[in-house]
Amino acid sequence: MKSVRIGEIVLKNPVVLSPMAGISSLPFRIICNEMGAAYSPTELVSARSIRYNGVDKSFRYMRISPEEEGITAIQLFGSEPEDFEAAVDTILNTQVLKDVSIIDINMGCPVPKVVKTGSGSALMEDPARAADIVRACKKAVEGLPRKIPVTVKTRTGFNAGDNGKPDFAKALADAGCDMICVHGRNRPQMYHGESSSEAIALMREAVRGYDIPFFANGDITDADSAARIIEQTGCDGIMIGRAARGNPWIFEQVTAGLAGTDIPKYPDSLARKQMLIRELEGRIKYLPEDVAVREFRSVMPYYIKGIPGAAAIKVRLVSAVSFDEVKEIIDLV
Ligand SMILES: Cc1cc2nc3c(=O)[nH]c(=O)nc-3n(C[C@H](O)[C@H](O)[C@H](O)COP(=O)(O)O)c2cc1C
Repeated sequence: MKSVRIGEIVLKNPVVLSPMAGISSLPFRIICNEMGAAYSPTELVSARSIRYNGVDKSFRYMRISPEEEGITAIQLFGSEPEDFEAAVDTILNTQVLKDVSIIDINMGCPVPKVVKTGSGSALMEDPARAADIVRACKKAVEGLPRKIPVTVKTRTGFNAGDNGKPDFAKALADAGCDMICVHGRNRPQMYHGESSSEAIALMREAVRGYDIPFFANGDITDADSAARIIEQTGCDGIMIGRAARGNPWIFEQVTAGLAGTDIPKYPDSLARKQMLIRELEGRIKYLPEDVAVREFRSVMPYYIKGIPGAAAIKVRLVSAVSFDEVKEIIDLV
């Protein structure tokens, strides 16, 4: 495995957890990094909200723990360069956030609520604005004793039929972006159909002449698909999303596969149930128990998928209200 550098940050390997709203909780990110992920960004947080309301309102989504996570990354979304500059400035002036390693910009979200405001994947239709946003973030991190890289996660296009936007990737690189990650689907594809390695490769080639790493994302489910996307796109690193839900072990498997060492076996039912409980305990540390359990309901089925009897307890898990209740239900299988 090649070592990858983002700005001055050297990654232990090229495998990163892809940010996922509702999934990328701090305890889950810590677990993924322990299992081998080089780092794990937060889910998307509104730059505008941080600018006008301060960090309190969205703090729970961007809580980081450099001691436990190692490299940390906060992902912001928005459409106004000034919002980003102010948000990054606020983050860097907030005691519990100021040590963040990387600022990531979301230019891929396909959700109508986000797109409607000109944010997320809508920025692919306005490369000049996207470049201004990168420059605004770069400006906000300028002059610090420590260099904070500004990265972008995007898609292969905004419109149906778009199959890679090389000029968009180039515009980001020209603006000084320190890493680009491309998910191989366009906006209307949301998460359906196949992620296109060809479309990713097109964008990869466009920025080959720049001294920045390029990451590929989409449909990586194991060591083989990881090796394949690297080979097909010529990317420097990969991000893994959905396949990591309830399955942080994917990071030890993929990193072993890429390093050419034996791939650890998928853990047994007991280890998976213990990990479920560990993540829930972690969530309860930061949230009221009932809120944490409710939010964890949609995640739990991923941890127990395939365990004999899982289907029967799933129905009960998705209406659980307390930690004890979850434990009791989990112990049934
Ligand atoms: C539930 C869910 C939430 C997501 N939230 C975000 C997000 O907050 N920021 C982001 O950049 N991408 C988000 N994504 C997209 C993923 O990071 C990733 O790009 C996509 O799922 C494709 O990768 P995969 O095939 O490995 O899942 C989300 C995806 C899912 C399924």
